[in-house]
Amino acid sequence: MNAAINNLTRLCAVLGSPIRHSASPAMHNAAFAQLGLNWRYVAFEVDPKNLRAAIEGARAMQFAGLNLTVPHKLLAVDMVDELDASAEKWGAVNTIQFVADAKGSIHTLGSNTDAEGLANSLREDLSLNLQGAKVLLLGAGGAGRTAALKLAAEKVAELFLVNRTKSKAEVVAIEIQRQFPSVKVTVGYPTKEVDLLLNATSLGLRPEDDLPLDERQFSLKQAYTVYDMIYRPAATPLLSAAKLAGCTTANGIGMLVHQGAKAFELWTGLAAPVSVMRDAVERSVYGNASP
Ligand code: ATR
Repeated sequence: MNAAINNLTRLCAVLGSPIRHSASPAMHNAAFAQLGLNWRYVAFEVDPKNLRAAIEGARAMQFAGLNLTVPHKLLAVDMVDELDASAEKWGAVNTIQFVADAKGSIHTLGSNTDAEGLANSLREDLSLNLQGAKVLLLGAGGAGRTAALKLAAEKVAELFLVNRTKSKAEVVAIEIQRQFPSVKVTVGYPTKEVDLLLNATSLGLRPEDDLPLDERQFSLKQAYTVYDMIYRPAATPLLSAAKLAGCTTANGIGMLVHQGAKAFELWTGLAAPVSVMRDAVERSVYGNASP
């Protein structure tokens, strides 16, 4: 059980729009309760035009931390005092720490825990060793670009990039070649097997969506594991088809948990109770029906 709210309660919040369906409050409050912290995590609907005022309000009220979700992650880059290496690298902020200096002024430090969350989830949920892996990545939007760069930073051997708008995949490929010359990048489908097929497109959010890949060009039988960054619904058409094809599969719930765990550690300085956070997220997103 969470400690009673009183004058010493520390606050964290997620800001987004829409925010109604966020599972982050359930996840973080379960973690605070597990560690006996007198902290609470709430969610606020914030319009982009009010984002700066909301961050400044949280600073003025001495919040412990903030998370940012759609559509604020890029906007917030220009609204914090400092970016850490992760926010610089991924060009987006999903976590803000409020840090007091020696004179008591509060300073805002932006971080990005999404890429680390994805890599940790791939390791935990698919038992994948990213180093030396061959990966087919679908999507070259914001999430796809970050995933591609993180996979390259984790030293995958080969990366195949596919996107509806091919030119965006080509831009990401050039960026990878420049930053990670040892990774072999191809725009297009592989002809042989891959260790991982990763969906970073938004296709699959709606039940009527098509598969995000062209099965005439790539058969799911060519993928050992399939990861979908979407977690609502629990089984996208891609994951259902991948299971039928005999692939090991996971949805994006683990990424949500691990990005949250990393944010929790930045704010509290304590090891996050990851399995408690995962149980709370699964209850919040899927109810009592297991995914
Ligand atoms: P996010 O930040 O979640 O990555 P985004 O930057 O808008 O959001 O990217 C959405 C991704 O889903 C892109 O790869 C997009 O392809 P385009 O770059 O061609 O737009 C992909 N996507 C969205 N709707 C799609 C559709 N109907 N068919 C194929 N790809 C789609």
